[in-house]
Amino acid sequence: MIILAIETSCDETSIAVIKNNIINNRILSLVTRSQIKEHQAYGGVVPELAARAHLSNIEPILNQAIKKAGISLSAIDAIAVTAGPGLIGGVLVGVMLAKSLSLSLNKPIYAINHLEGHALTARLSHDALYPYLLLLTSGGHCMFVEVLGFRQYNLLGQTLDDAAGECFDKIAELLNFDFPGGPALEKKAVFGDSKRFVFPRPLEHTPEPNFSFSGLKTAVKKTIEKNTIDEQTACDIAASFQYTVGEIFKERLLKALKCSRHKVERLVMAGGVAANKHLREQLQSLCTEKSIEAIFPPMDLCTDNAAMIGWAAIEAINNCMLPSTDEFQPKSRWPLEHLNL
Ligand code: KG4
Ligand code: ZN
Repeated sequence: MIILAIETSCDETSIAVIKNNIINNRILSLVTRSQIKEHQAYGGVVPELAARAHLSNIEPILNQAIKKAGISLSAIDAIAVTAGPGLIGGVLVGVMLAKSLSLSLNKPIYAINHLEGHALTARLSHDALYPYLLLLTSGGHCMFVEVLGFRQYNLLGQTLDDAAGECFDKIAELLNFDFPGGPALEKKAVFGDSKRFVFPRPLEHTPEPNFSFSGLKTAVKKTIEKNTIDEQTACDIAASFQYTVGEIFKERLLKALKCSRHKVERLVMAGGVAANKHLREQLQSLCTEKSIEAIFPPMDLCTDNAAMIGWAAIEAINNCMLPSTDEFQPKSRWPLEHLNL
């Protein structure tokens, strides 16, 4: 079973060829082009520019992905495409390509939820067994979900305002770090003193594993306004902020373990923020203490990529799900729990 997968929901144009193979041999090709140059001047993703860049990049990326996989288009068995949630202009570009290929090649098409792609990545990279506790943390989402089985998602808690990635990006912008903010802030934090500034941890005293990052963002913003920001102070603020997010993640993990319906044996971290080394180390050490296996997909599978979309389609096929009809529509909002069987 060979799947051609397409991901265009944010600022990465990504196409992969995936095979239902043994673990080390599943990704025949993965070509991802990030739109850093297009959005750099604006300090954030501009939806209209993102859609246009997807449109001009998608065809060469398709050709590269097919060439790298060493197959011809006729060899694919099905097409998988992110149908939401995401920036609708970008999602439309991917969906239109998927529908055209499906019609011209006469292949079935699977409309995949982007969050499900992130949620199942650890099964692609590590063969993670169900059930597991998932911390999904990206530019638009931050949530604890019990993944009990295929399309059995139990949401334990989520952010009540901003996502963690959004907060990394905003603070990086205020500190004049490079774009994209998350990885740039992580690099600067290495040279900073994480104890110099003490930032709040909103929702610290509530029992649910929910998150709130807007108060933390405001506190960091005020600190930036009050201080003279030389190179060292910028690094110290970055380190203190990143340290606070690590402490918040650990606290909320303890709460999620208490709220979970089953005894948690595995924690999976997924989404772009899961690429952060400090946050991985913090969660790893708490998991070791609690005798929980911590699973972190490789960096290029944490940030947006088409391989996870292809894999979600393989899981759907393995669970006898029928392909989507070609009338399916892209969705800007599409909660993970709506997929539950
Ligand atoms: O999953 P993703 O690629 O796209 C969404 O679906 O949102 O996540 C992107 C987010 C951005 O906010 C980015 O700054 C953040 O993940 N991110 C990081 C790191 N790498 C990416 N945040 C912190 N540290 C990183 N190393
Ligand atoms: Zn994502």
